[in-house]
Amino acid sequence: MTVKLPAGLTSHATVAASSANLGPGFDSLGLALGLYDEIVVETTDAGLIIEVDGEGAGQVPQTAEHLVVRALHRGLTAGGAGVPGLLVRCRNAIPHSRGLGSSAAAVVGGLAAANGLLAQADLQPLTDAHLIQLSSEFEGHPDNASAAVLGGAVVSWTDTRTTPATYSAAPLRLHPDIRLFPGIPQVRSSTAETRVLLPDHVSHVDARFNLSRAALLVVALTERPDLLMAATDDVLHQPQRGPAMPASAEYLQVLRRCGVPAVLSGAGPSVLALTTSAELPAEAVEFGIATGFTVSEMTVGEAVRWSSGVAVRG
Ligand code: HSE
Repeated sequence: MTVKLPAGLTSHATVAASSANLGPGFDSLGLALGLYDEIVVETTDAGLIIEVDGEGAGQVPQTAEHLVVRALHRGLTAGGAGVPGLLVRCRNAIPHSRGLGSSAAAVVGGLAAANGLLAQADLQPLTDAHLIQLSSEFEGHPDNASAAVLGGAVVSWTDTRTTPATYSAAPLRLHPDIRLFPGIPQVRSSTAETRVLLPDHVSHVDARFNLSRAALLVVALTERPDLLMAATDDVLHQPQRGPAMPASAEYLQVLRRCGVPAVLSGAGPSVLALTTSAELPAEAVEFGIATGFTVSEMTVGEAVRWSSGVAVRG
């Protein structure tokens, strides 16, 4: 049964950026970053109005194809509700196409905003597990979406033996000494375009290499940050993607040469340094800035938040 929600319900969601893979944990490890998109929604009698401020303004479709709107409808349907019309306002801080999980944030934010409407109509909101499943179905991989839902560092996994695939995630207790320094370039890159650079098959040697590093990375992220350098090594996707983003590949190498554990953020082109030092070596920062990266420290992101009954206009 679908409950038709009345006009005038409002909801608000805040959702973090994320960095996926963290080197060896391809499609499995993720970390939420302290940079947030905000979504405010109101049900209306008819139609669809979308307002976008900040990142993506004037670039994303202002139609039912808008990712936040698609996710909102998906969340409402899953919660047993429908709406005659919507006003959606997005205040975006997460840069698009930089490997910082903006699409996962849009999907998780849309689903969370649906939760705010469901709760206001006394319907059961979606659980975190449900949010992870639905958002990962949109994404096709659970690493960014799970980090956006749960916040902090997250291990996620996929069971492709079911249809649709089943996505699950468990949070990690990130070691408090680990500091995050993303380098964000002006240039963009599409995840879809750099996923096709990856081979369908990998050798047992390479699989073994990444298995040990990904397992070690869980230890390094939670208990032994001194192991981060070895634990962030990868042979399954970064070397293959490097030629498509030479500045990122070079900045990554410079950081590692300077002794700083660093990885491509998701599919790139952003680069994430994870370190226990208060700052990055001057040589690395100078190189990053000279090659077009904005380098600054960022906090760890929090779990998605949603609430009901907030003013949309004004
Ligand atoms: N695991 C995904 C990939 C993350 O590397 O393609 C995309 O942000």
